[in-house]
Amino acid sequence: MAKLVLGIGTSHGSMLSTPPAQWDGRANADRRNKELAFRGKTYDFESLLALRQADDFAARTTPDARAAQHARCQTQLDILSDILIAARPDVLVIVGDDQHEWFQAEIQPTFGIFCGAQVMNLAPTKEEMEHHTREGRGPSIAGNHPPQDQTYPIAKDLAERIIAQSMDDGFDVAAMMAQPKDAHGMKNLGHAYGFIYRRLLKDQAVPLVPILVNTFYPPNQPSPRRCFDLGKSLARGIAAWDEDARVVAIGSGGLSHFVVDEELDQRMLAAFQSGNEAAITGEADTNFRSGTSETKNWIVAAGMVADTNFKMKLLDYVPCYRSEAGTGNAMAFATWS
Ligand SMILES: [Fe+2]
Repeated sequence: MAKLVLGIGTSHGSMLSTPPAQWDGRANADRRNKELAFRGKTYDFESLLALRQADDFAARTTPDARAAQHARCQTQLDILSDILIAARPDVLVIVGDDQHEWFQAEIQPTFGIFCGAQVMNLAPTKEEMEHHTREGRGPSIAGNHPPQDQTYPIAKDLAERIIAQSMDDGFDVAAMMAQPKDAHGMKNLGHAYGFIYRRLLKDQAVPLVPILVNTFYPPNQPSPRRCFDLGKSLARGIAAWDEDARVVAIGSGGLSHFVVDEELDQRMLAAFQSGNEAAITGEADTNFRSGTSETKNWIVAAGMVADTNFKMKLLDYVPCYRSEAGTGNAMAFATWS
């Protein structure tokens, strides 16, 4: 029988793959952003700065402070990479979110499970490079996509087993049999998945099952409770797979961004560490907007390990600040074993 041997929670934000001296690219995008989400409200940069003036974030975004934050993250990513490779996974079940990479306005499933034969992580095109450069994250693209196209096999039997289980458990998931295309050709693998292969697996093409959660976009984001319960269902699907395989569950993304909220992150990390289901699922949904919503990928992962004797070990929590208004990305790295 398949066995869950490890859980991982990891941030994947572009600042991890961008030299800290270039974090201003994203800071400038924040300055233009009129929809900065923070604790249930929406701000432009100036009003956010006025709200958070007393926190003196300017002192935490000096060149030295940025370099220290970045270095701490790289140390933990190296450790996570070693842990993941040492676990000798046969399959990864990666929970991520689609940020208009595969899904656009035509369709936006709450939960999608990919069950085709393979996915491709493509070398970035000129158009992709230009798009990400405009968004201030050009330097990070190599953190998600390889210099040459790569193919990762899907653990199709497991994906189908998981879909059957989720349908039994009351989750009407979208099944994806092929990587989507548009007029330019195949759409690239999402950053939530590509980052795991590039940074943690060092391009090893370990088979996977991609779980796509719409954490980001109204109106059909799942609640924290649904995310946790989906995780439990995924774990049942893995346990029901009649194959002697070592499976690693990964929650990819978060924690709070693009406005860092250390209080929210600390509450969630405490809940994950204690395995307190009421606390994990009880946080107000209005707190999980924009990039912060990716914390829900961790909630799914927490649900996947809920019925094991695994405990979360927090390797580090590193709020990375890029502007005086407290914008940036709070990074967290953890294992469940
Ligand atoms: Fe993301």
